[in-house]
Amino acid sequence: MHQVEKCAAVFKEKFHSDRYRVFFAPGRINLIGEHTDYNGGHVFPCSITLGTYVLAQKSSGNLIRMYSMNFPEKGVITFSLRDLDYNKTHDWANYPKGMIRYLIADGYQIDSGMDLLFYGEIPNGAGLSSSASIELATGVMLEKMFALSLERLTLVKLGKKVENQFIGVNCGIMDQFAIGMGKTDCGILLDCDTLKYLYAPLHLKQQHIVIINSNKRRELADSKYNERRNECELALKRLQAKLPIQSLGELDEATFEKNKDLIGDPILIKRAKHAVYENRRTLKALTELKQGRLAEFGKLMNESHISLRDDYEVTGKELDTLVDAAWQQPGVLGARMTGGGFGGCTIAIVENEQIEQFIDQVGRTYKENIGYAASFYIANIGDGAKEISQDSDVVGCIGGRKSRVYWFSCHLSTD
Ligand code: GLA
Repeated sequence: MHQVEKCAAVFKEKFHSDRYRVFFAPGRINLIGEHTDYNGGHVFPCSITLGTYVLAQKSSGNLIRMYSMNFPEKGVITFSLRDLDYNKTHDWANYPKGMIRYLIADGYQIDSGMDLLFYGEIPNGAGLSSSASIELATGVMLEKMFALSLERLTLVKLGKKVENQFIGVNCGIMDQFAIGMGKTDCGILLDCDTLKYLYAPLHLKQQHIVIINSNKRRELADSKYNERRNECELALKRLQAKLPIQSLGELDEATFEKNKDLIGDPILIKRAKHAVYENRRTLKALTELKQGRLAEFGKLMNESHISLRDDYEVTGKELDTLVDAAWQQPGVLGARMTGGGFGGCTIAIVENEQIEQFIDQVGRTYKENIGYAASFYIANIGDGAKEISQDSDVVGCIGGRKSRVYWFSCHLSTD
């Protein structure tokens, strides 16, 4: 049964109606350019076909009712349009609530209650941006349901604002941007300083991108994410004593090497080095991709992981085990962690005919070393957040949107 049909049955059960419109926002992977977004550098993410579905109908009055199939134990969460404060007991529902609140605060007219059903395919805490996916799915739903005239970039920035100010996670703009602006079979090269971007077609014919979930949950708010941000800010401040720069993203490698002693602390130098070199690697990666030099692109991915492991120190045993195992396999062009790190996912570009063996071998090594299984997905690069109702006045069930997602769970014979 397709996801939407599953959602429809639950919508009917919870809200006693089969009138709804359907919206979808993807998750994202980042090909290269990690921990560069908040350093004014470049990132190179793409949106995947796994994501969050929202079924929505307006209701009379001011009540908003929300139910998530991922958190059935929380039941239907109800609040009024007149009370959009953060509420700890509302748990996951604070993400969509934040979007509603900030849109209203910016003068957009959201003037009736709603019944909303959420279903997320992205494993929670996997580092594939399930929270940005909920934010953008909500944003596009509100845009269409209330006929709001909204630039997509406005929604992207609003999603980030919800994350930063409503939820309290100090992330950069990459996730919301990739999820809001994604395009089928393209990576997005984004300059996080100017927000200029371009779509780079990914001509993968002989290969696929495999996503490997370490199944070690990453909690962005609890992780050392903010610590790394602060370390970079401090390093920048010390460099600014001599250099007229606003961000580490403005530096090239040579200027950094010439001036790094201004930073005066070996740990901070390593952090800043990663930010500078990773940004430059990301630009090189685009050039390699444009020239069709996928092997070179893969090598830059490997270098990115090494830098995240040794200089930025955000990988950890689980991600390193996966990437090390990936590097040993035939037909692997490159592999690295993706997202914030400290658990979550890695990605690898793998020759098509080697994928089965890759999954088997990497899965086996991981289970032997870590003690539990990894999960494998073949990434398909899809569009950013959008309505997927067959037409926007749709009433009732949407049948059979063909899923382009393949799923492998790791059945290992080691136990
Ligand atoms: C998380 C954040 C992003 C970005 C990445 C690291 O995914 O949400 O803004 O900083 O980590 O590249």
